[in-house]
Amino acid sequence: MKNIVTARAHTNIALIKYWGKTDIALNIPTTSSLSMTLEPFYTTTSVEFTDNESDSLILNSAMEDSSRVSKFLEMMRGQYGNFPKVMIQSENHVPTAAGLASSASSFAALTAAMFGLLDLEKDDSEMSRIARRGSGSASRSIFGNFAVWNKGENHQSSFAESFYNKDIGLSMIVAEISSEKKKMSSTKGMQLAQTAPTYGAWVEKSAIQLAEMKQAILQADIEKVGLIAQDNALGMHEQNRLCLEPFDYFTSETQRVVDFTKECYKAGLLAFVTIDAGPNVKIITDHATEKILLIKLKAEFPELTFDIARAGGAYEYL
Ligand code: DP6
Repeated sequence: MKNIVTARAHTNIALIKYWGKTDIALNIPTTSSLSMTLEPFYTTTSVEFTDNESDSLILNSAMEDSSRVSKFLEMMRGQYGNFPKVMIQSENHVPTAAGLASSASSFAALTAAMFGLLDLEKDDSEMSRIARRGSGSASRSIFGNFAVWNKGENHQSSFAESFYNKDIGLSMIVAEISSEKKKMSSTKGMQLAQTAPTYGAWVEKSAIQLAEMKQAILQADIEKVGLIAQDNALGMHEQNRLCLEPFDYFTSETQRVVDFTKECYKAGLLAFVTIDAGPNVKIITDHATEKILLIKLKAEFPELTFDIARAGGAYEYL
């Protein structure tokens, strides 16, 4: 066994969202989902065994509450046999918990690092299943470019796989509206959303949209990718507003960026939005349009920070 293992995994943004569970303990989703892995946003995680009495987590050089990762490591001890306590050191190159899905890159990197530390076979499907137990969206961050998480119905059948390992020229411009920690966790948010009377219809539509999305990606039809992703994401946020205890991740600034992006599309640019469990907006466009769109966005929203992200790679050991 190695003394210390370091792995990196990139975050991913879902074009067809995961927003609801049929099994909360196992993170079995109500929908299959599809994502793009992002190059500039990633987590690097090192793990080593320690004689300490508990698992520990140092995130961006600060000691953090380790209860969530400790629960994850306990699950791994149950799966692969008992092992000593683990010291985790993690660097997040993602605005933490502001809807840029840092839990995805974090649990994917931790899973990869632990597979290395425990000398487990590097089977992508098994790594995806294990990452899923930490955070559902992490199941997709094992893979580069595009990944599909087939929802399955139990631990064994619910894992992601590489969907299309090519760059189709898609770009995302991330509008950082707030880097504050989100008020409602995605775990809690999706649980509430499932009480919306329209939730079942969103789930049904999502299955149709997934099939259409796969086709659009294979055809490198970015307009179609954007239109479907936008509808799917706005539908997800509708469930939050219509559920029994309504809530909203949008701020007024989020809405302004959404409206402006729609105007850009009407004016003939490839520009579509997707939004996760936070106020930030990811604008879907293509490599040819990203610069002109960025100039327009910066002119309209001088107070915001924008980053251009293209497709990134699978997890790797450093
Ligand atoms: C809106 O994976 O963070 O980003 O499984 O409870 O940890 P848990 O949830 P999480 O949810 C991500 C939700 C989303 C959509 C998506 O990534 O598919």
